[in-house]
Amino acid sequence: MSSNKGTALITGASTGIGAVYADRLAKRGYDLILVARSKEKLDEVAKEIHSSTSRKAETLQADLSVAADVKRVADRLASDQLITAFVNNAGIASTGKLLESDPDYLDQIIQINITAFTRLAIAAATSFAKRSSGTIVNIGSVVALAPELLNGTYSGSKAYVQNFSTALKNELADKGVTVQVVLPGATATPLWGKSGVNVHTDLPAEWVMTTEDMVDASLAGLDQGEFVTIPALPDVADFEAYEESRLALAPSLSRRDPAPRYGIGTKR
Ligand SMILES: NC(=O)c1ccc[n+]([C@@H]2O[C@H](COP(=O)([O-])OP(=O)(O)OC[C@H]3O[C@@H](n4cnc5c(N)ncnc54)[C@H](OP(=O)(O)O)[C@@H]3O)[C@@H](O)[C@H]2O)c1
Repeated sequence: MSSNKGTALITGASTGIGAVYADRLAKRGYDLILVARSKEKLDEVAKEIHSSTSRKAETLQADLSVAADVKRVADRLASDQLITAFVNNAGIASTGKLLESDPDYLDQIIQINITAFTRLAIAAATSFAKRSSGTIVNIGSVVALAPELLNGTYSGSKAYVQNFSTALKNELADKGVTVQVVLPGATATPLWGKSGVNVHTDLPAEWVMTTEDMVDASLAGLDQGEFVTIPALPDVADFEAYEESRLALAPSLSRRDPAPRYGIGTKR
């Protein structure tokens, strides 16, 4: 058994990416607090991990679309001094067009992927900053960079994760807390089936990463000190060039004068 690294709280740990994080973090020496709605699946994951690693694996049933449940998990993040890592992973997706979507479901995406995500991240960040240590892994998506793919509310929620993570990392820069944002591409988890897509037959095989490879690459990125980890991107220089050109826009984005192409100055 590896040395004790404290406790990792993982949301969305009953299946998919969260369940693999649970396995990998236990193998790295963390005890676990596993959060999701499905108590039965959480118990299965916890039992399997405890028997293979002997690490403690507690389950915390919570529906992150319900404010009282979000508060319960946030309170645990704020008060449990043994928690040293937080994987902010729970999320739901949609592949449908906006105008064909159930607006209540779009609300749910915002509630889970943005509202709950934010409260939990702030709770963990505040507690970790007080202790000058800790790791926060926010699970975004490549659709943050590619809103042309999938549903605009889903990709917008992941763009939020990206923006929020950048601001959080900057605020925590001198406080001893590590922040990573992970941007997976298509990953073979149950998420796709829930949106009516068969990830194995409806998407080109070369687009789809296994969940194990996705999480292992993300943890390697964390070990390498990456802030943004895009497990599929072959050449990190491509993302760096994108960031550079985004940052180069900054001095021109807010000015007294409208741009000459609008002809406003000439009318004054
Ligand atoms: N799979 C991909 O291709 C892909 C790509 C990019 C990003 N991501 C992101 O990766 C994260 C994990 O997704 P996944 O692919 O692993 O999907 P998944 O297999 O569907 O897992 C989602 C997890 O979130 C939990 N969850 C869903 N609704 C919840 C709620 N209301 N309250 C609490 N927990 C809830 C689910 O558990 P219960 O149902 O038991 O509550 C489950 O544990 C998401 O943020 C997703 O957006 C996935």
